[in-house]
Amino acid sequence: MSKTILAIETSCDDTSASIISDGIIKSNVISSQLDHSKLGGVVPEIASRKHQKNIAYIINEALEKSSINLHSLDAIACTNGPGLLGSLLVGSSFAKSMSYCLGIPLICVDHIKAHALSHSINSFDINFPFISLVVSGGHTQIMYIESYDKIKIVGETRDDAVGEAFDKCAKIIGLDYPGGPLIDKLSKKGDSNKYKFPDTNVPDLDFSFSGIKTSFLYFIRDNLKNDENFIKKNINDIASSIQFKLVEMIIKKLKIAIKKYNVTNISVGGGVAANSYLREELLKINNSFGIDVHISKLEYCTDNAAMIANYARFMFDDKKFSKLDVVPFSKNK
Ligand code: KG4
Ligand code: ZN
Repeated sequence: MSKTILAIETSCDDTSASIISDGIIKSNVISSQLDHSKLGGVVPEIASRKHQKNIAYIINEALEKSSINLHSLDAIACTNGPGLLGSLLVGSSFAKSMSYCLGIPLICVDHIKAHALSHSINSFDINFPFISLVVSGGHTQIMYIESYDKIKIVGETRDDAVGEAFDKCAKIIGLDYPGGPLIDKLSKKGDSNKYKFPDTNVPDLDFSFSGIKTSFLYFIRDNLKNDENFIKKNINDIASSIQFKLVEMIIKKLKIAIKKYNVTNISVGGGVAANSYLREELLKINNSFGIDVHISKLEYCTDNAAMIANYARFMFDDKKFSKLDVVPFSKNK
């Protein structure tokens, strides 16, 4: 079916707009709110105000880059949750207004489901069923995906998300927010076996990352007592060792899920899927287990509207439209 959709993503601190036409992404514009790095994390109130300021320009740019006229759009899609409520309200209100003014359908997309299918962007060949791992700053989930809308969460974090654990550990050693990419960078020059951190035993396919963060905090505090330059001298090894542990925790559960659900395909998305050591370990699974691992392209790992547009194309085909009184939700449904 020929269709052109404008998608808007504002679930956290990135304002993004994307155009998809006949299943192919024509533009994907993202404006990151770098101010949060100075503040050590995302401040919800500031994030929603920035979305409000940016959104019209980002949408205009997405339209211009794709050379699509506003009146050629067939639908407007937006992220409806989970995420920061104030931020979601900016995107969804804008989408509703556009849908109303242009007289075209509104499509409300679930952010996590969009991450889970982000490996299929620009592709028409998706191997259902598969296991999807979504690892980001807000979520850590394993899903069993039978079709685009038959998705079951089979494991998730009971406390912090893995990206949050990366960011919090990074903060403890004085790195800026978001610390995940910085830990990744420093790790490349470090020894991942130098420091050992304890295992957290959580049943089934669930995760817990708050314990590891606390033991990391005590580990750093105790070492600083003996040597005030401990972090400075060992930062690469510290980063590499904590990254090793966090990735090991994810891979362990993913392997159990692959066995339990007997799948031959897995997808991996979310901001932490950009992590180079995680990608290395996933490649090993791909090579040794007879499993096809589909990792989202780097540009589609972190929050972006292209993944919302990609999910919306399936919803459009099934006419899964929303009414204008739909309200965003902050937590997993
Ligand atoms: O998907 P995303 O952009 O936003 C959420 O929905 O949360 O993910 C952002 C998270 C942050 O915690 C960031 O530190 C982490 O992804 N991240 C990484 C890397 N790149 C982004 N963590 C580890 N290694 C990376 N290379
Ligand atoms: Zn996300």
